[in-house]
Amino acid sequence: MIDLHCHIIPDVDDGPSHISQFLEMARIAVEQGVTHLFATPHHLNGSYENPKNKILQMTRQYSNYLIEEKIPLVLHPGQELRVHREIFQTIEADEMITLDNQGKYVLLELPSTNVPNYLHEVVYELRLRGITPIIPHPERNVKIVEEPELLYDLLSDGALTQLTAGSIIGQFGKKIKLFSEKLIEHQWTHFIASDAHNTHSRGFFLQQAFEAITKKFGVDAIFYYKENAELLLRGQNIVAEEAKPMRRKLFGFI
Ligand SMILES: [Fe+2]
Repeated sequence: MIDLHCHIIPDVDDGPSHISQFLEMARIAVEQGVTHLFATPHHLNGSYENPKNKILQMTRQYSNYLIEEKIPLVLHPGQELRVHREIFQTIEADEMITLDNQGKYVLLELPSTNVPNYLHEVVYELRLRGITPIIPHPERNVKIVEEPELLYDLLSDGALTQLTAGSIIGQFGKKIKLFSEKLIEHQWTHFIASDAHNTHSRGFFLQQAFEAITKKFGVDAIFYYKENAELLLRGQNIVAEEAKPMRRKLFGFI
């Protein structure tokens, strides 16, 4: 299994703070069936800065620790880049790193409470550069839960989305769980990833999430998400199912 989004590198963001925790996370990822894991530290989210060169160097360094410890997990470089007004300066400065440094996909994080109005321009400009933005955990964005059509517009622009495993099993509350199910049902999401930060409160939960999805949506849904992650890892285009329009309920969305 491939995990596209994980804060596993110590001391670079709100993930682990020590190598022992890094190794513990890696072992749990393997137990969950993960074979390839993208290290995606936060960049420019207001608290942390992890430009491309630093992430490449850290991924190499920590890959070596995995080899030394004989943990069968392959690390790939990535980044969770917060959308911001000066994002094109970040790209020009070569600080952004796409997933596996392939120049095809980037995790583009939104603020948690709003959707900036310049986001369409950012998605458009990235697409012009041949890069497809993947919006991590849209189910946890307060504005999108209130106005899902904001996300539908981004999907129409060519953005993809990644659901967080913990959201699907209720780790972030019932409302987010129900909205996650809506996103799956309406084919608004393309990947499931852990966004793990540690081994407990923000753990992996991938097995549990896949079991929950299988129960509710059937095993084909799981194949779809897993295949998309494999295509991405191979540098190929993923198959994006067409997003179905979602009806808002009269009194609140859910
Ligand atoms: Fe994250």
